[in-house]
Amino acid sequence: SQNIYILGIESSCDDTAAAVLCNGKIKSNIVATQKIHEEYGGVVPELASRAHQQNIVPVIDQAIKKAGITKEDLTAIAFTRGPGLMGSLLVGTSFAKSMAMALQIPLIEVNHMQAHLLAHFIEEENFEKPNFPFLGLTISGGHTQIVKITDFFEMEVIGETLDDAVGEAYDKCGKMLNLPYPGGPLIDRYAQDGDPKAFVFAKPNVKNLDFSFSGLKTSVLYFIQKQEKLNPNFVEENLKDLCASFQFTVVKILMDKLKKAVKQTGIKEIAIGGGVSANSGIRKALTEAQSKFGWKTYIPKFEYTTDNAAMIAIVGHYKYLDKQFVDASITAKARYSL
Ligand code: KG4
Ligand code: ZN
Repeated sequence: SQNIYILGIESSCDDTAAAVLCNGKIKSNIVATQKIHEEYGGVVPELASRAHQQNIVPVIDQAIKKAGITKEDLTAIAFTRGPGLMGSLLVGTSFAKSMAMALQIPLIEVNHMQAHLLAHFIEEENFEKPNFPFLGLTISGGHTQIVKITDFFEMEVIGETLDDAVGEAYDKCGKMLNLPYPGGPLIDRYAQDGDPKAFVFAKPNVKNLDFSFSGLKTSVLYFIQKQEKLNPNFVEENLKDLCASFQFTVVKILMDKLKKAVKQTGIKEIAIGGGVSANSGIRKALTEAQSKFGWKTYIPKFEYTTDNAAMIAIVGHYKYLDKQFVDASITAKARYSL
């Protein structure tokens, strides 16, 4: 049978990404990260859309070239329709529509949050695919959700954050610790050399499977402010311990909710996705949960954790098989639930 080549395009936030999959296997996976936001300590939407506009053609060209094909070989184009920043989404959406129209090939819309979870279905050696039904924990800069996944496109959010997302909490805490944006990966790095029990931060008291991270953020802030009155160099001198203690608390919050979700659903297969799934603490806790609780846990390859287009392309692949196409009247959706 013929090869299925899917081009994935992702532009929902501050990374411009394109990837080509052949029959679900990676041929190329290009991400252009926008450095400009570092100066502002967070993503500036207007600057993000401008950078997407500049990056999108070279990134797609590179993805197609690296895959060793020409654009005429493409079977279909999949793009992120939402959720995300409207100005950013418009760039990828408009480009995907035009390109599919010019090449006269099918166009496929993809939900970014579904893609973070279905990234586990990219064909990779030494990586198993989850079995349905499984639980998904999506942890990123914009989302924190526990999702029940019964089939490729049958997903139900069974718990989510009531305020900040985990990644957001990491980045805000990073700011308090005078770390550059995004603070998440840096806190993770320092945490590995610190004492997780050095300081105790407040854990939220949220019912059912929902999360809250704003209280933890405030708890860290007040603690630092109090200590700095006594010692202005407190943060500098205790950076590793502060990072380790913060990370310990976050991992505990996430694991406690997962345990509750497993108990409630009886599902012991758990897959994580989103930028924060790159975190060493959560990876370790989930790996240990296999022998400790008898769960089967799926941790994505590092390059499929933060925003990328390979995850968009794999959803495109399965939607292609299912003939879930859209026409050029499709529009981007900043708020797009599962
Ligand atoms: O999925 P993603 O790339 O973009 C969104 O859709 O939000 O996630 C980005 C988030 C940022 O908040 C970043 O700080 C966080 O993921 N992050 C991490 C780590 N790597 C990225 N947080 C904690 N530990 C990490 N190793
Ligand atoms: Zn994301």
